[in-house]
Amino acid sequence: MEHKNSLKVAITGTNGFVGKNVGKVLVKKEISVVGIVRKGKGSSINFGDVVISEDLSENYLTSKLHGCTAFLHFIGRGKQTVDSDYQKVNVGITKNAIKLCKKAKIKKIIYISGLGVSEDTTFGYFISKFQAEQEIINSGLDYTIFRASYIIGKDDSLSNLLFKQMKKGTMMVPGSGRYRLQPIFVGDVAEVVSQSITQKKFSNKIIDLVGPTMITFNDYIRDFLQGRKTPIKNINLEDAYRAALNNPKTDFGIDDLNILVGDYVGNHKKLKSISGIEFKTHKAVLKTSGFS
Ligand SMILES: NC(=O)c1ccc[n+]([C@@H]2O[C@H](COP(=O)([O-])OP(=O)(O)OC[C@H]3O[C@@H](n4cnc5c(N)ncnc54)[C@H](OP(=O)(O)O)[C@@H]3O)[C@@H](O)[C@H]2O)c1
Repeated sequence: MEHKNSLKVAITGTNGFVGKNVGKVLVKKEISVVGIVRKGKGSSINFGDVVISEDLSENYLTSKLHGCTAFLHFIGRGKQTVDSDYQKVNVGITKNAIKLCKKAKIKKIIYISGLGVSEDTTFGYFISKFQAEQEIINSGLDYTIFRASYIIGKDDSLSNLLFKQMKKGTMMVPGSGRYRLQPIFVGDVAEVVSQSITQKKFSNKIIDLVGPTMITFNDYIRDFLQGRKTPIKNINLEDAYRAALNNPKTDFGIDDLNILVGDYVGNHKKLKSISGIEFKTHKAVLKTSGFS
């Protein structure tokens, strides 16, 4: 396929929420996209080229990725299972991503870490994200690491969960609901990522990927409901953690609770000034993302 824009990028986790949305925006900008997906998952991608990989270690990937300007690494997990733990996925596959970039001579890696990740982190998910960040920072590759709050848009996981609760008739708020989040629109994430592929001002930086409004979870749910009268119930935090510990299918897993209760907010001003974007508010996103 001939592209007016000679840029080509690789995206891992292309089936995921962020990968899919970023991929579509880049293709619209006439950037060639090579989407890397696990076996059997390629069919849901209707843009760019698709390459199959289980863990980014396969030798045949090198030639397929030749000529890529950047490697957008969006594989990640926020819940552990015995077969798929944080070390294996968040750290191990990131190490493989770095090796692959070097073999394929890709100079730039872009990674989405979590808002609140730091050297002082004490829980598993954030520890794995911190370690993945360190692998990238020490790799010698040019990097941009984004520490993201909740990324929202059509089909995001938080909204899907809240929508499910709404349909069931009660919104369940773990604990007080007074902890804050800073949701960011996935379309704006795609724009920022797109800029970071080539713009030097994003080089070797860690940047908070946070929206324009710091909002408590309680207020976010109120805005999500958009006037609907669905009752809101605060669940005792001990009960919420007990459910997370004993039931893998519970709405809020252990690390979902850790991230919520952690009250993580970041520096939107810096993101705005580096990108120059007018960011969508969560209210505008909720209005247009089809949750009604
Ligand atoms: N969405 C947010 O609000 C948010 C906030 C902070 C950070 N992040 C980070 O941003 C990145 C993308 O998030 P997302 O919302 O797009 O998540 P997502 O929808 O769950 O997508 C995650 C992707 O990772 C892939 N993946 C998971 N485990 C894998 C494994 N063992 N081997 C290979 N691939 C695997 C999945 O592949 P399959 O499609 O094959 O299952 C999927 O494509 C993640 O690193 C996440 O931690 C997201």
